Amino acid sequence: MEPRFVIRQIDEVGPDIARLVVDAPRVARHGRAGQFVIVRPSGDSERIPLTICDADPDAGTITLVVQAIGGTTTEIKAMDAGGAFSDILGPLGLPTEIESFGTCVVVAGGVGVAIVLPVAKALAEAGNRVIGVVGARDADHLILVDEMSDVCDEVLLATEDGSAGTHGFVTDVLGSVVDSHYVDRVLTAGPIPMMRAVGELTRPYGTPTIASLNPIMVDGTGMCGGCRVTVGGETLFACIDGPEFDAHTVDFISLQKRNEAYHTFEACRLRDAREELDA
Ligand code: FAD
Ligand code: FES
Ligand code: MG
Repeated sequence: MEPRFVIRQIDEVGPDIARLVVDAPRVARHGRAGQFVIVRPSGDSERIPLTICDADPDAGTITLVVQAIGGTTTEIKAMDAGGAFSDILGPLGLPTEIESFGTCVVVAGGVGVAIVLPVAKALAEAGNRVIGVVGARDADHLILVDEMSDVCDEVLLATEDGSAGTHGFVTDVLGSVVDSHYVDRVLTAGPIPMMRAVGELTRPYGTPTIASLNPIMVDGTGMCGGCRVTVGGETLFACIDGPEFDAHTVDFISLQKRNEAYHTFEACRLRDAREELDA
């Protein structure tokens, strides 16, 4: 059988971050902002979730942006154009709620930019004024800034070492934005402590704030329970009830603990993946 999920293009958009354009016609036709796919680079690989960063229904392709942080993402980043994924399942998860809200701020750290980019685009197309706040540890790690600038009315940058934009965190920038503008909605994606801090910052303003959560997922269809999260005291499954939830009621501490549960095993798997690639 011909491989179906062929990689048409792969390029580097940041240190250890690859952008892949992949054949997946059905996902390209039906995927909406906020949704994701579950992929396996090879038949032996584990399944991991990746956001549908962009889609071209006419070409039948989707764009994925992958940060190589562990075994499977390292395997994906090492793939070449012309190679193929073993499987791509999706679109999964609930699409982002898109309405004409007014002024929306999308706040992203690290590879979280790939997650907010399609949402920023959909919010802008719905007539919202969209302000992007993008952060990274330094200028080299800021990704997709041009793509964000294409869809947002304004993009503000923050780096921890001050090499680009504000010297500090995305929350320093967001603080100035919410002090100087009436903000109708905030959407955030990135490291868990960052999303938690964004929620804490907007809470006193009462600004509706949505976080795109990144729990460990396996099947992506609500069957395994791997992605369970606590939101407003309720247990929900991020793959079918999310991945976006009210940041003011998410239990970020338990999310962080659950995501750290397999660190020892994951470190061994990363070492094995690097050894396989070097061999
Ligand atoms: P590992 O070393 O196995 O794990 C590193 C860390 O990644 C773990 O500590 C854990 O926090 C997390 N992780 C591990 N396994 C999984 C898993 N099966 N599911 C989810 N998280 C896991 N990353 C991107 O680079 N680009 C994206 O567009 C993107 N979109 C995502 C969308 C959703 C809905 C979710 C839930 C996660 C998304 N992620 C994305 C995160 C990505 O899935 C993880 O980085 C990846 O699974 C890590 O796998 P690994 O084997 O390379 O690393
Ligand atoms: Fe299995 Fe959500 S990933 S229930
Ligand atoms: Mg892994």
